[in-house]
Amino acid sequence: MISEKLLKELNKQINYEFYSEYLYLAMSAYCESLDLEGFSNFFKVQAEEERFHAMKLFDYINEMDGRVKLFAIDEPKTSYNSLLDVFEKALDHEKFVTKRIYTLADIANEEKEHATISFLKWYIDEQVEEESSFNKLVKRLKMIKDDSHGTYMLDSELSQRTFIPPTE
Ligand code: FEO
Repeated sequence: MISEKLLKELNKQINYEFYSEYLYLAMSAYCESLDLEGFSNFFKVQAEEERFHAMKLFDYINEMDGRVKLFAIDEPKTSYNSLLDVFEKALDHEKFVTKRIYTLADIANEEKEHATISFLKWYIDEQVEEESSFNKLVKRLKMIKDDSHGTYMLDSELSQRTFIPPTE
């Protein structure tokens, strides 16, 4: 049985993951407003990944005989200055999520809650991938700058992304 303190933080994390889903849908809509369907697709797939992250926590809490609590989801930012602005904000958001996961891991470690320590390892590894993916795209957008050909090429590449449920 997980402690009340840890349960509260795990439930808060469900909310952060659903907020991430919302945020990336807002970013997808922004890209769509620029007629960049590949970028829009990239964020739609990212939103699906976030839902997967939320549901994995949802299922874990239930498995541990805890009580899932769903909180109101904050309204995400919907206007951005540029594609680079979108990706820089996405990267900042992922860094924030990484800190949140570390906070959860710290509590689980303090409490010697080994099942949750093991469970959270998946999220720690996933965050490395998430930050790396956004970091690379920020760098590529900085290289592309205002070059419309480069933007089009990247848009075309990102249109290929599909949602593949992450491996356990
Ligand atoms: Fe669920 Fe992108 O972290």
